[in-house]
Amino acid sequence: MAVRVCFVCLGNICRSPTAEATMRRLLQAEALIEHVEIDSAGTGDWHVGHPPDRRAAEAAKRRGIEVRGRARTVRTEDFDYFDYVIAMDLSNFADLHELAPHEEAKGKIRLLRDFDPASPPRSEVPDPYYGGGDGFETVLDICEAACLGLLEHIRERHGL
Ligand code: 4NP
Repeated sequence: MAVRVCFVCLGNICRSPTAEATMRRLLQAEALIEHVEIDSAGTGDWHVGHPPDRRAAEAAKRRGIEVRGRARTVRTEDFDYFDYVIAMDLSNFADLHELAPHEEAKGKIRLLRDFDPASPPRSEVPDPYYGGGDGFETVLDICEAACLGLLEHIRERHGL
């Protein structure tokens, strides 16, 4: 059975779709795409149904990464379906703990950067939405490093 991973940010149009797309490319490169199911969601509903932020999609495209999908909110059933519910920042992390329907669900919540051995504990993926400049490049750099660590974790833990 596939390992199931859901990346979660606030709007589900910038960071979590970028993390999902980065992970998808890695899984494809490692021929593991059949073994790990990935998705993303947001804790907020402002952008439900919207495509990814154009700035996120364009920055990713320059690295050969296709960011796709439509925004949706996190549902309580997600905590049963997914094995990992991965927050981008501490605010998402706290919100997910509020939404988690039971203790086992809380155990599935992780912070993305905690999978990057080079990041100090509890590091965040900064929200690029209102910032200018290279915020989207920073998100990509962070996602690339952390998704490598996440892949390594999944390989070891699930014998892939
Ligand atoms: P994301 O970025 O959480 O990385 O998708 C944001 C997108 C939209 C908003 C905030 C953050 N917003 O306030 O609409």
